[in-house]
Parts: sequence; structure tokens; C-alpha cells
Amino acid sequence: MINRKQQSARFAWMLAILSLAVASASPASQPAPRSNGLAQTPPVGWSSWNNFGDDINEQIVIETIDAMIANGMRDAGYVFVNLDDGWQRYKGARRDHPLEVDPKKFPRGISYLADYAHQRGMKLGIYSGPGQTTCAGYTGSEGHEAEDARMFASWGVDHLKYDSCCSHREAPKEELQKIFRTMSNALMAQKRGIVLHACHCGWGDIWEWAAGLGVNHWRIGQDISDDFNYPGNREQYYFDVLDQLDRGVGLEKYAGPGHWNDYDMLIVGLDGKSKQLVGTGASNTEYRTHFSLWAMVSSPMLVGADVRKLDPYSLQTLTNKEIVALNQDPAGNVAHKVRDDGDLEVFAKELADGSHAVLLLNRGAATATMTFSPRADLQAPMDRYSIRDLWKHRDLGTYDIPFTTEVQSHEARVFRIRQLATSANGRSVSDAAEQESAR
Ligand code: GLA
Repeated sequence: MINRKQQSARFAWMLAILSLAVASASPASQPAPRSNGLAQTPPVGWSSWNNFGDDINEQIVIETIDAMIANGMRDAGYVFVNLDDGWQRYKGARRDHPLEVDPKKFPRGISYLADYAHQRGMKLGIYSGPGQTTCAGYTGSEGHEAEDARMFASWGVDHLKYDSCCSHREAPKEELQKIFRTMSNALMAQKRGIVLHACHCGWGDIWEWAAGLGVNHWRIGQDISDDFNYPGNREQYYFDVLDQLDRGVGLEKYAGPGHWNDYDMLIVGLDGKSKQLVGTGASNTEYRTHFSLWAMVSSPMLVGADVRKLDPYSLQTLTNKEIVALNQDPAGNVAHKVRDDGDLEVFAKELADGSHAVLLLNRGAATATMTFSPRADLQAPMDRYSIRDLWKHRDLGTYDIPFTTEVQSHEARVFRIRQLATSANGRSVSDAAEQESAR
């Protein structure tokens, strides 16, 4: 007979042996996944690059913040105000120049802008890269990652776009991982939480490993151009809206709270007039479709247009809170393409409250009639469901058959559908309630 004390000693031994076995089963070469706990929903805000290029300054940033508050963007969720390339003082290699803010463009420094943003419930982002120079030729962070991370944190920065400029295309993954791990570790050593964007053109299958290094979002493709569907790649490089969308198909599983596929910055409102970006612009319908798609696939949504001068239609597009909510849904699901009938495609995702977001996309040249069936397309046994149109802001009623509607050329119709509970006798609860109240 063994007593209680002996019994618990045996139990402790068994536990110890078991945990040793579990520990030795995980490969020692795999570094433990890191997470800064940030970006539980995709970052949403503004970035300077798509319209201004490197022609940025303090005045533009202040006016941008003020405009985002006045025009309702901040309250619709656009809180990041991100400086892209061009804030730095020097052009040329880091070995020849320190990394400093350009005192002519930003006379009061970056921390002044960070404070200005924070006081107004917003966040400030900054830009650098792992090379000697950045993509626009300014001094990069190579060899100075810890020092730069400290400097960004001391300025009160909330987001870093760390841009490899599509370099290292053929480099072994270990080399790429080292680049982003070095900056991620440097940022995580700071008290201040800083969201990390690894901008790397989607090479080296970055989606497979970036989250494990603590990266919060990574570009899945080359730069977007101001086009909805340009034949081929403009200048044999740029991706248009549909290129980015197609690039993301199959990558959905890599994204989730804290780590997102980045389809690049929004082109809504650029209208082919950007000082920086190539492209001839898109129609209002196409920009709206682009915005709806980015919300569905949970991409970061950083507006690239000059928000001080947004036309009313673009502003109405960007501040549709029901669409922004699909992007910011706490479940963090990414829409999958659930049906592909050539030019007609259906994307869907489940939301935190159990409802589903459904997007009907018509890529074709003519208006089309599209049908979706919750049973067939969502594989969700919904016999009876309600539909809300998120662009018309209207409840369309209750359905127990597939839903059919018209979708214009290049339009995306977006709906939120909710299952209506069915009682044990097969009658829907709402039927029963209606009959009850009719008595
Ligand atoms: C690269 C990036 C762009 C922008 C520029 C800045 O091209 O993909 O988004 O940051 O660099 O030079």
C-alpha cells in the first residue's frame, strides 16, 4: 500500500516526465513565436505616400489630422496617421549619415506630431527600412536597428513601416527572417508598443513566417497603382485592385488578430491625380468596390488620398461605418472566395456576433444578376435569414430562399445576413412571434 504522500510524489514525477517529453517534441531550432499583442484588428488610418510621395511636412500632417477629425474619419475608425518615406534629413547611405528628422520639413520634430495626434485620440506612424538607404534614397536603419527603435519609441511613435523595397527577392528565407526579426526584437525591447509593418512585396512567402517574428502586417504584393483593372502590370511592376485581390486568394489562413495580410494602401479619392502614384484613377463605383473588398479581407486600410480635399462621394465611401465594422470585427476572420463563376464572385466571412458578411462582385463589363444561397455558399444551414444592405443602410427583409439581386459592372454589393432561429417544430421563431402578435 502506498500512502497519500507517496501517491502525490509519483504523480509529480509523472507530470515532470510528461512535460519533458512535450518539450523535447518541439524542435529546438524553432524560435518561440513572438507577439507584441498589438493590431488585434487591422490598422486603419492615413498614410502620406500614395498622394504626396516624399513631399511631406509638418503642416500637411497637422492639417491632415485636423481634417480627419472635422470630416468624421477619425470617428469612423481612422486613427493612424502614418508618415511614409521622406521625413528623414539625409539622402544617402546610413554609413555616411545619421538618421535624423528633416528640420526644414518638420521644424518641431516628430514627437510634437505624436503628441498632437495622441491628444486627439489618434496615433502616429513612421517609416524606415533595413538597408543602407530607403526606397526613395534616404538613410536606412541597417546596423542601427536598436538605436532607431529606441529613438522612435522616445518620440512616441505607434507604428513602423519597415520597407525592404522588394530587395532580397531570391535571398534564403533565413536571411529575410533575420532582417525583420532584428527590427521586431528591437521594437519589442521598448516599453512603448509599436505596430510593425514588414513591407516586402510579398516575397519569400512572408505570410508563412512573419507573424512568428512578431510582425503585425506584411504586404502580399507589389505597390498598388491607381487602377481598378489595368491589363497586365502597369510598368511591369504595379498591381491594380483586382491583382491585389487575386494575390490574396489562398492566403486567408495566415491572417488573424495581431497579424494581417496587407493588400497595400487605399487608392479611394486619388482620381488619377496623385503626385506620386501612377495610374489613371477609377470610377466611384470601382473605388467603393476596392474599399469593400479591403474591408472583407481584413487588410489594413490606410487612405492614400489628400483627406483635406476629399470629394463628398469618396468621404461617404470611406466613412461607411457598417463597412469599416467588417474590417474591424473582433473575430478577425478573413473573407474567402466562396464562389467563382468567372466574372461573378462571392466572398463571405463569419463575424463575431454569428452573422455573416457577404460580398457579391461583378468583374464583368455588363450588369449581372447574381444569386447567393446561405446553404450552398456559406455551408451554413440557414433556412430563414434576414439581410441588410450595407451600402444602402437598409434591411431588405427575411428570406427562406436564395437571394437574387442585380450587380452593376465592377460593383460590389455588400450584405450582412443573420440566421433567424427556428423552433423545435420547424416553425421559425419570428413566424411564431408574428402569429402570436396577430392574435
Ligand atoms: C516602396 C513601398 C511604398 C512606399 C515607397 C517609399 O515602394 O512599397 O509603399 O513606402 O517605397 O519610398
